[in-house]
Amino acid sequence: DKIPATLIPGDGIGPEITQSVVDILDALGSPFAWDSQLAGMAAMADGGDPLPLATIESIRRTGLALKGPLTTPVGGGFKSINVTLRKEFELFANLRPARTLIPGGRFENIDIVLVRENLEGFYAAMEHYMPLGHDAKAIAMSTGFNTRAECRRIVTYAFEYAVKNNRRKVTVVHKANILKALTGLFLEEGRAIAKEYEGRVEMNERIVDACAMQLVMDPWQFDVIVTTNLFGDILSDQIAGLVGGLGMAPGANIGTSGAIFEAVHGSAPDIAGKNVANPTAMLLSTALMLQHVGRHDLAARLDKAIDHTLTVAKVRTRDLGGEAGTREFTDAIRHHLA
Ligand code: NAI
Ligand code: MG
Repeated sequence: DKIPATLIPGDGIGPEITQSVVDILDALGSPFAWDSQLAGMAAMADGGDPLPLATIESIRRTGLALKGPLTTPVGGGFKSINVTLRKEFELFANLRPARTLIPGGRFENIDIVLVRENLEGFYAAMEHYMPLGHDAKAIAMSTGFNTRAECRRIVTYAFEYAVKNNRRKVTVVHKANILKALTGLFLEEGRAIAKEYEGRVEMNERIVDACAMQLVMDPWQFDVIVTTNLFGDILSDQIAGLVGGLGMAPGANIGTSGAIFEAVHGSAPDIAGKNVANPTAMLLSTALMLQHVGRHDLAARLDKAIDHTLTVAKVRTRDLGGEAGTREFTDAIRHHLA
């Protein structure tokens, strides 16, 4: 019996890279029965609602989704659907593993797993403007929050991940020197949880700005990183840059009763519809989804075919210096499925 799962093609390059996944999974013997649903700009254009009830109900039913990137208007417009979905299904952990797949780049042998708190911090911020004189928007206010319970839950998730995946170290990244309450609480819980894992998993601490520098100077010192929402968002794009760019970085949003898998990157409107998008991040997210449902066999075959295509056959998309289009690259992976 197939596993019911929601498929959201998304905006921009979303439909192209989602098609890659569907084609390759078909060739692999997909364990999923897709329920295709709309969200984001595509849903706006269809029915005027960026997050239709049918989409929410589908994910509630399946508890499992693969999602293409969604465009979020900057400034006004509607609120980020990504943030809304994470909240709606309480997907508290955002897992973003990054591994060097192509040798000979600026950085070799990178293998870092970033665990980002996904529900709180400045992404749950209450924002508003305050007037001064004639300027209605003279002052911009933002109030973020972190709860002790959520700090505990995300740090515990990172340490448990380390134990289960034979990782030796968890780095807690914060800015407790300045945001003494907001990220001080996170650090406090990080230290407390680390004690429970003493002797099994090493713990260290980094202030986020210094961490950003060290990620470039000596990324090999990092193993698992756990951090708050905003810092995690920024550092995960930086880490993607260490392994070849946003086209190579997969992600998973995980909760206790559901999971949504998606690439780290956005809808890339600059290259949408041109058959040049790199579907690797979306495919690696699919591999994470296969692992999540216990199909480690299929995940391994998919990972292997991606690896072979990139490093042995050397078929690569433009962002990796190659010439293959999205479709040609997809065909090559399909051809290399063992
Ligand atoms: P972006 O990640 O879409 O693109 C940044 C740069 O990376 C662009 O030059 C793009 O062409 C390139 N790029 C991204 N993915 C690529 C791929 N698979 N292959 C080749 N090149 C790739 O970030 P940007 O431009 O800041 O945001 C565009 C839109 O995406 C915004 O509306 C933003 O809100 C949304 N977004 C959505 C996310 C999601 O759905 N999870 C995550 C991040 C951004
Ligand atoms: Mg981001």
